[in-house]
Amino acid sequence: MCGIVAYLGGRESAPVVIKGLKRLEYRGYDSSGVAVVDPEQGMKIFKKKGKVADLENVLKNETFYANIAIGHTRWATHGEPNDVNAHPHLSNSGRFSLVHNGIIENYNSLKQVLINKGYTFSSQTDTEVLVNFIEEVQRSGNYPLEEAVRLALKDVIGAYAIVIMDRENPNRLIGARKGSPLVIGVGQDEYFFASDATPIIEYTKEVVYLDDLEIAVVSENGLEIRNLQNEASDPQIQTVDLELEAIEKSGYDHFMLKEIFEQPRSIADCLRGRVNADEALIQLGGLRDYLGKLAKAKRIVFVACGTSWHAGLVGEYLFEELARINVEVEYASEFRYRNPIIKEGDIVIAISQSGETADTLAALELAKAKGAIILGVCNVVGSSISRVTDAGVYTHAGPEIGVASTKAFTAQVTVLSMIAIATAHKKGTITDETFRRLLIEMSDIPKKVEEILTLADEIKDISKLFTFAQNFIFLGRGLNFPVALEGALKLKEISYIHAEGYPAAEMKHGPIALIDEDMPVVFIATRDSSYEKVVSNIQEVKARKGRVIAIVSEGDTEVRKMVDFTIEVPNTHEVLQPLLTVIPLQLLSYYIAVLRGRNVDQPRNLAKSVTVE
Ligand code: F6R
Repeated sequence: MCGIVAYLGGRESAPVVIKGLKRLEYRGYDSSGVAVVDPEQGMKIFKKKGKVADLENVLKNETFYANIAIGHTRWATHGEPNDVNAHPHLSNSGRFSLVHNGIIENYNSLKQVLINKGYTFSSQTDTEVLVNFIEEVQRSGNYPLEEAVRLALKDVIGAYAIVIMDRENPNRLIGARKGSPLVIGVGQDEYFFASDATPIIEYTKEVVYLDDLEIAVVSENGLEIRNLQNEASDPQIQTVDLELEAIEKSGYDHFMLKEIFEQPRSIADCLRGRVNADEALIQLGGLRDYLGKLAKAKRIVFVACGTSWHAGLVGEYLFEELARINVEVEYASEFRYRNPIIKEGDIVIAISQSGETADTLAALELAKAKGAIILGVCNVVGSSISRVTDAGVYTHAGPEIGVASTKAFTAQVTVLSMIAIATAHKKGTITDETFRRLLIEMSDIPKKVEEILTLADEIKDISKLFTFAQNFIFLGRGLNFPVALEGALKLKEISYIHAEGYPAAEMKHGPIALIDEDMPVVFIATRDSSYEKVVSNIQEVKARKGRVIAIVSEGDTEVRKMVDFTIEVPNTHEVLQPLLTVIPLQLLSYYIAVLRGRNVDQPRNLAKSVTVE
């Protein structure tokens, strides 16, 4: 949540920061701001409620020139979204300005200490407290700013990524992190700070991922890193493997649509070099030393949130069905606040697109402290989760910018399928023949997703008839139950239509009361082991005049006769079906949201990366 960008170097800084903030808008977009130090005019701060484009409009009427700037795009935690609560925040003397991503948990007690010393506050934010606390520490010993930051942060409880700028020394920026991400771009005599690498790659591919409890200073002396104990370390420069094209819309109306259409490629990228159907091989380099442990595991626990949690539910079916391992799928936010029972040999697997979700990270750390083996399935390379886990598999879906997750979900399910198949084969719970067949089917998935995408116009036409629905129900069984949940989540988050996902048979125990001629019901009714049962459930809905859209297998004629609309998906092995059945649901949600005039890529109240608990 919240995006940070800062720049120091030879360029005009404000445009660099504004452009970077636009790339980070997926992290929050309720207000934004930028602070610069103009050598003639001193520190100047501009803040605006709304999108970065609104801030840009404000800047059009301003004249200043600066080579240093810090900027922020906000997802409100403390205080409503307005101009005053927007970052950057200024210290009482006007000397320091600060941008912050995270939550300072002890801000109230720090604020009281500062109020007793005469400090005043204009915003309701924890960030304004932090910048004044740093100012107070700096003044108390006339410390250099980096030392004041270090001493102040020792007393801070909570999560933060910060960048601070000093009006008196506008040739230096200081950044620090604990729990929230911060990347430093190292260019030719120029430096960048950002919450992820996307604002940086246009200028340099050389980056340093700051570690927790580290402080970075960039100045004419270069980049220096120390930890909170004041121990220096050599910056570990890495090259990011990310092209600009991957983070632009490339002619699509929305990132979400681009990402839906990218799925044949993102799934193929995920499989590449890992699944070799011809030679009947699966190679998961990241799990080389852990496959044996997986095969012996008595229990696997998935921890995740939102869409990633739905992928975990698919994983549960996969591991139980193929590898006969007992699996539990936990909301990370619940797991971390229980006293979960972890036994020797238990494996906890975090699933996260961003690799930064605060609850998932905390759940993993708890599991590790209790002695579990912790593994990760992450999309963002170098993210916090990927760095704390013992081992893991990247999903290689490429940057996902639309707030509603699409290609990350199918990549997560692809990875979980590969791990489950590899584990099952190692354990001997599937035959060589089934193993080979699954690999062939997996290799064919990208082509089949491509086929489904050719139905986009047909799905768009169906969505026109449901644009003004007030509610939706999504029903599926077995592996398609998590797909039903995912379909409902997609619809509600981008169209704001109330939607529920249920196991189809569970409908009789309550939700069936909602069915009447105004209730659209989406069934996933592909030809699998629960097909006949789902057909009965469809009849129950039709008998009550519900309007049914059914996702069916290619060539199905039975369901077609009963329902209002059908969308066909190609046949595949039953355990791989979610990779296909979810695609029409993504498109349906997308078109309904567009027809309702919603901001599909930036739905209200949401942020892509939930780095607060
Ligand atoms: C929904 C969505 C969210 C995320 C959730 C977890 O479309 O994107 O529900 O899935 O916030 O995020 P990650 O996967 O980054 O941990």
